[in-house]
Amino acid sequence: MLVVRDLALTIRGAEALAATSFSLSLGESLGIVGESGSGKSLLALALIGLLPATVRRTGSIQLGPNTLSDLDEAGWCRVRGRKIGMVFQEPMTALNPVLPIGAQVAEGIRLHRGLDAAAARSEALRLLDRVQLPAAARRYDQYPHQLSGGQRQRVGIAIALAADPDLLIADEPTTALDVTVQAEILDLLADLTASSGMALILISHDLGVVASVTRSILVLYAGHVVERGPTGAVLSTPIHPYTRGLLKALPEAELERLEPIPGVVPPLGARPSGCVFRDRCTLAEARCLATPLEVGRAGRAVACHAVSVP
Ligand SMILES: Nc1ncnc2c1ncn2[C@@H]1O[C@H](COP(=O)(O)OP(=O)(O)OP(=O)(O)O)[C@@H](O)[C@H]1O
Ligand code: SF4
Ligand SMILES: [Mg+2]
Repeated sequence: MLVVRDLALTIRGAEALAATSFSLSLGESLGIVGESGSGKSLLALALIGLLPATVRRTGSIQLGPNTLSDLDEAGWCRVRGRKIGMVFQEPMTALNPVLPIGAQVAEGIRLHRGLDAAAARSEALRLLDRVQLPAAARRYDQYPHQLSGGQRQRVGIAIALAADPDLLIADEPTTALDVTVQAEILDLLADLTASSGMALILISHDLGVVASVTRSILVLYAGHVVERGPTGAVLSTPIHPYTRGLLKALPEAELERLEPIPGVVPPLGARPSGCVFRDRCTLAEARCLATPLEVGRAGRAVACHAVSVP
């Protein structure tokens, strides 16, 4: 349904995302994980046509019969919200502070589905119930500031679902929430994906977050996919040195305890040639001066000279 081919992004000549390909069918869920600065949000923005003007994009993005990468702004406006819903990290920024929350959900429904005001209101109430907003009918006329962070995120998800999209993209949807609320919102995303048949892309710096919801995982480091595969396989047998490092942060991971990966993702324009993880990798050797290709099979792939995929 979603087919991304060789999507690459550069900002003023510096590579922000190296050629990346993946596909996703209706009902499937993909987690994109990586540290701050790895290019997760830029990838998400590319998928909804909201890249900053300084970013140059190549490659193709196909959603069903539509080639999104060929669209002009008017074309993107028809797709965004309607075919693809987006949930952001801080629900307050996605919500209008001076409009009651029910009206904000109903507005999306009217806009995308052409319902009259009364029908949009009852559909908005149904959606707010579906995202398990407590006492939705009573809260319908409340303003965002009257809700807790978790409740606001539920409203943000309801707005993203207003047009019954084929694909939902959630970029760090729980990072601003405390741990208990985070777990509730992740459960909700998993339920919605299972019950609606839409596809989900869940983005997080936290491997534990994406692992709890998504069927497959793509690990991004400094704009490069370093490992991908079914969630269970990546968690039980991480192969790339970077993924192995990320997994150490998971308390439940039954892995040998190693030191956290020292260092940070290098900024754009200062990334090493060859393997981008080279300056942080304890296994780096001379051949890592050449860019490793992804090797693998059956949906499992790793980009590293030092390992093989079983
Ligand atoms: N508008 C922009 N102009 C210049 N550089 C940018 C712009 N947006 C992002 N970048 C750079 O591109 C890289 C990837 O940014 P991106 O926001 O996609 O990272 P991320 O993985 O989402 O990180 P985080 O976990 O902090 O959200 C970073 O080095 C960032 O500084
Ligand atoms: S290619 Fe080399 S530097 Fe890169 S992750 Fe593998 S061993 Fe480390
Ligand atoms: Mg981001």
